[in-house]
Amino acid sequence: MKKIILDTDPGIDDAIAICYALNHPQLDVLALTTIFGNVATELATQNALRLCELNKHNVAVATGTAVPLQIAPHPVADFVHGSNGFGEIELPSPAQKPITSSAAEFIVDTIKKHPGEVTLVAVGPLSNIALALELAPEIASQVSEVVVMGGAFHRNGNVSKHAEANIWNDPHAAQQVFTADWPLTVHGLDVTYQISFSADYLATIAANSPTVGGFLRDAAKFYSKFYKSQLNFDGCCPHDQLALSYLSNPEWYTLEQGSLDVVTDGEAIGKTTIITNDKSNKSIATKVNRDALLADYAEVLSQAV
Ligand code: RIB
Ligand code: CA
Repeated sequence: MKKIILDTDPGIDDAIAICYALNHPQLDVLALTTIFGNVATELATQNALRLCELNKHNVAVATGTAVPLQIAPHPVADFVHGSNGFGEIELPSPAQKPITSSAAEFIVDTIKKHPGEVTLVAVGPLSNIALALELAPEIASQVSEVVVMGGAFHRNGNVSKHAEANIWNDPHAAQQVFTADWPLTVHGLDVTYQISFSADYLATIAANSPTVGGFLRDAAKFYSKFYKSQLNFDGCCPHDQLALSYLSNPEWYTLEQGSLDVVTDGEAIGKTTIITNDKSNKSIATKVNRDALLADYAEVLSQAV
């Protein structure tokens, strides 16, 4: 089993990824840690707890920071994910509470408790991961690996010509995470736009998993309307899932190795770049086996309630 901490801003594609992680037989989710982005951090925490309860998994949830390291916070993405983060589909208020440690404290303590064993997966702005590094820089050599959804290396961004949302929401945090000396794989829009979940695909998932799959099918309707109206795209893009599928099946991905950088001010704020270098411990994903990913997602979700 691969031990993971999943840092997330749920969010509909975050929900898609969380439901996969919680139902995957080879992924041991030690905690969900929460961050602003698609919704405010407080709502991200409630949504993370709601998803654990929906999936009938009792997993620790740790609340992250409410603001970026240096810039003023951007508005949440309610036009993409709805005001509740789930496309206006309501899940019951959670019975469980978050743990008392902050996300950054939990990340540090857990990596130290299991040296070399914990994979950090971040699918929102990278503020908690940067704060964990600031608290204990030595975790860079103690983590197993870091996997991020964020950035747009060889294409335009999705919130500006230059920037992808997770990086744009905290470019200084991204810069710290991209330049720390740890093994890092980044799944940017270059690879995430290669996958879409169609209405028919989500209906099949719901037929096999009425509770969890049914929720994802319903929540994705709002998200898919955004893709249709803004990008004339049928279906929706499960960006965050690309990072999760990589954990279980890295062989489906083509990677480019190199050193990574983030623009932290000016017109191109949030722009991500790679300088190819085959000695680097950083990579970006550039291509994925679409059919294998879709078949695997459906198979894992068929085990959900
Ligand atoms: O740009 C896509 C990313 O931004 C995803 O993580 C999505 O959930 C939003 O946070
Ligand atoms: Ca996300």
